[in-house]
Amino acid sequence: MIFYFSGCGNSRHVAETLATGLGDNLIFIPEAARNHHYDYALAEGELLGFVFPVYSWAPPRLVLDFVKQLQLNVKPEYVYFACTCGDQCGQTEKIFRKILQEKGWELSACFSMKMPETYIGMAGFKLDKEEIVKKKIADTNATLERNTPRLLAKEQFSEMVVGGFAWLKSHLINSSFNKYATDDRKYRSTEKCIHCGKCVEVCPLKNISLEEGRPKWNGNCTMCMACYHHCPVNAIQYGKATEGKGQYYFRDGMIFV
Ligand SMILES: Cc1cc2nc3c(=O)[nH]c(=O)nc-3n(C[C@H](O)[C@H](O)[C@H](O)COP(=O)(O)O)c2cc1C
Ligand code: SF4
Ligand code: SF4
Repeated sequence: MIFYFSGCGNSRHVAETLATGLGDNLIFIPEAARNHHYDYALAEGELLGFVFPVYSWAPPRLVLDFVKQLQLNVKPEYVYFACTCGDQCGQTEKIFRKILQEKGWELSACFSMKMPETYIGMAGFKLDKEEIVKKKIADTNATLERNTPRLLAKEQFSEMVVGGFAWLKSHLINSSFNKYATDDRKYRSTEKCIHCGKCVEVCPLKNISLEEGRPKWNGNCTMCMACYHHCPVNAIQYGKATEGKGQYYFRDGMIFV
């Protein structure tokens, strides 16, 4: 059983590839949480996996909240996570391990994969160039091919890109990111909007409604940037930070840049 979250498709690609390789089923965390579905049954010996992007050097808050509430019929024998990041994960492993320990579960394996950058909501943050996008995806596919048999063999391993100043980033910066930088009031649609509703459709949290044909953000945002990246006419902006920065998402093995 694989629980996953993804905004722009990078982690969805990882989750779908693992599900195919492991013969496993996928559960989308935001949908399960919306339906208050926290009780699941694991078959004997079944792997328990989590796949998610790294947000501000930690697992996204909505993933941690879901894991805290998750209930299983048995103590899982083998738990792993696979995360995607643009660059570095900080103390993602430590934070996830601690959440599991509080439930009496242990983490058996974890690995990170560099995938194309999706966060451009602040000055100084930009998307990767197309050749880097292609290289990151090719490297991730190789990592998945290498690690799927290790998961099937229930090997214990940790392969994470941590980076420098990890505590500072994963705690101090992460808590102010969650407090201030997930504010969706800075989102706006420009005159280019063609009222197609794509932003409503792709928001994993169902945080957007259309009012008189234009998107309205309703205050429950995880800053995945899916609405921004999927708009077919690039009509969504986040303050001034996103202006002129381009778009990216990944779907069904295809990159859209
Ligand atoms: C809100 C937000 C915060 C991010 N923080 C980090 C980070 O701390 N470190 C990093 O390497 N990448 C960071 N990224 C980049 C994503 O982890 C990366 O692009 C990921 O593959 C996106 O996955 P998705 O397409 O499944 O949403 C961030 C992206 C977003 C949207
Ligand atoms: S996706 Fe873009 S064009 Fe479509 S409704 Fe949303 S803002 Fe308008
Ligand atoms: S409103 Fe946009 S950035 Fe916020 S959760 Fe929805 S899709 Fe992601």
